Amino acid sequence: MNSQTYWKSRLPLVEKALDRLISAQAQPPLIHRAMRYSLLAGGKRLRPILCLAAARAVGGNEALAIPSACAVECIHTYSLIHDDLPCMDDDNFRRGRPTNHRVFGEAVAVLAGDGLLTEAFASVARTKPNRRYSPADLVTELAHASGSLGLIAGQVLDLDSEKKRIPLKKLVEIHRAKTGALITTSLRLGAMSVGVHPTKLRHLTRFGQALGLAFQVIDDILDITSTKEKLGKSIGKDQSSGKATYPRLLGLAGAKKEADRLTATARAALRPLGSSADPLLAIADTLLRRDH
Ligand code: IPE
Ligand code: IPE
Ligand code: MG
Ligand code: MG
Ligand code: MG
Repeated sequence: MNSQTYWKSRLPLVEKALDRLISAQAQPPLIHRAMRYSLLAGGKRLRPILCLAAARAVGGNEALAIPSACAVECIHTYSLIHDDLPCMDDDNFRRGRPTNHRVFGEAVAVLAGDGLLTEAFASVARTKPNRRYSPADLVTELAHASGSLGLIAGQVLDLDSEKKRIPLKKLVEIHRAKTGALITTSLRLGAMSVGVHPTKLRHLTRFGQALGLAFQVIDDILDITSTKEKLGKSIGKDQSSGKATYPRLLGLAGAKKEADRLTATARAALRPLGSSADPLLAIADTLLRRDH
């Protein structure tokens, strides 16, 4: 099965679970409309798909990873809503539509992000316990990846590095935290949901760390080389905001080379898992070639 097939085949499952998680009937309507506006706007769903593919790669039942899959997409969507706010990246366009705060106003957008962040933990807590991990283990995993030692750390360093010259080592740290941490944890949570053996969890973690960094390197590249129509978000913002990015430090060709190298590192980490990891390998290749 190639990754497009795997990815596409799992999308309806993910969309249905997200639609159920944040119900259109929930009260009060305003906040839930705002949450659903961004959550159900048709992102790539990379993180939930990685979560399901990781469960499968370690020989588990993907259905058990659905609570984690929803949780990581909620965290991701919250981070996008806040990332786009005027006080952060100040973006007007996301997932092919006006950003949350442009439609609902800043106060509701902040709260819609908060709402998604909070629901993520309720979702992951509903994971069925197994002989190795309790729901509390998964909640802790998600908290560390998305909290001030993970995603939030990365966002703070990203903002603090605007219009500054920073060394590559620092940029790696930012990208690992703001994007890599949640991608790695998406894989880990999927595998933990099915009681993965610690050795296999280590292989998946190494895969996620390299893939997560590669993903943000490619995001930096696409901000220069892609189009607003393809990406569904504004382009050229990194340069105009003076963001620290891979193309800025290494040039476009250097950044592309680094994405190639990191993808190869990611692929190598999965070798011990055998053919059950094929969907993950194919996802890594697809991401390297992506134009959105
Ligand atoms: C964009 O993430 C933000 C980053 C962490 C680079 P995605 O490219 O996964 O965005 P969606 O989910 O497809 O909208
Ligand atoms: C965003 O990085 C990372 C998170 C949202 C945590 P970017 O600021 O580069 O993402 P885009 O380009 O706006 O999607
Ligand atoms: Mg940002
Ligand atoms: Mg941004
Ligand atoms: Mg970007």
